[in-house]
Amino acid sequence: MEHLWPCDVPPGTVKHYQRGDEALLLQGDSLALLPHLKASHVIGDPPYENVTHAAFQKGRLALNTNDDKRRRDDGLGFDGIDEVRDEVAQLVTACSQGWVLLFTLAEGVRAWRDPLQAAGLKWDTTCFWIKPDAMPRMNGQGPARGAECFVLGWAGRGYRKWNGGGKRGVYTHPVNGPGRHGAHPTEKPLGLMRELIGDFTQPGDVILDPFMGSGTTGVAAMQMGRRFIGIERDPRWFELACDRVAAVLPFQLAACADDPTRPPPDEPQPQQMMLGDDWAPARKPKPPRTEKVGTPGG
Ligand SMILES: C[S@@+](CC[C@H](N)C(=O)[O-])C[C@H]1O[C@@H](n2cnc3c(N)ncnc32)[C@H](O)[C@@H]1O
Repeated sequence: MEHLWPCDVPPGTVKHYQRGDEALLLQGDSLALLPHLKASHVIGDPPYENVTHAAFQKGRLALNTNDDKRRRDDGLGFDGIDEVRDEVAQLVTACSQGWVLLFTLAEGVRAWRDPLQAAGLKWDTTCFWIKPDAMPRMNGQGPARGAECFVLGWAGRGYRKWNGGGKRGVYTHPVNGPGRHGAHPTEKPLGLMRELIGDFTQPGDVILDPFMGSGTTGVAAMQMGRRFIGIERDPRWFELACDRVAAVLPFQLAACADDPTRPPPDEPQPQQMMLGDDWAPARKPKPPRTEKVGTPGG
């Protein structure tokens, strides 16, 4: 049995924030960290295809951010997925014990489907996020993009579990909905993430987002009584994700690079979340919280 802190990751190499057995936020590269982690479900928002990133860079596509300097200067500020897609597909399938749900543009659906199936994921379907307030296309050359997709598959044993009954996989949420922070260029609406978490997961489940950006998945997970592991490479977004998750529940800095107060890896804290093949909740899950914002679920 492994501990929440991946024991085979050398201490002091990864900056992280931890809140008991409820949340672990890691600053680092998912490709390096995912092999050490297990979760009930992976719900992630990976970078888009390289060609789309290039279009943002050239200003042909609009950024979803309140930061005017970012709008002008550096596009999305992180690389496209193409070079690492196969590896990510393999790692998330190995890591999840239930659903794998990954956002993509429509153009990326087939590109994700093949490596996910090759990795052993049981393909389910493609779902849609409709954006009623998506940025209009101003150049008169065609329609604006009003939707994104997410690809869906099952990595667990036995029957797939979901809470949506006969519901269709179409989710309508404005980009500028309640709970929007506005700094990250591809921030997902909090209401969308809450609806997805309500449909696909159970209270107490561990949800892992390997590309957490500003941490919207983590905020939704915490609000709804799920547990959360998030990975983000960029220190700006990592700090913001920690702040946003911290605002949901009181948060503790458990350890960072040279923190002498962090217990050695072979001395687990009493209430640590356990990870591994024989992973089991360390304590009774909390009931979901009721919130004013977002959509019903959970
Ligand atoms: C599409 S954004 C996620 C936005 C997020 N859903 C939100 O609401 O803020 C993808 C994020 O993945 C991060 N990223 C890209 N490659 C990564 C990697 N290999 N490991 C960890 N994070 C990575 C980027 O820095 C970016 O912030």
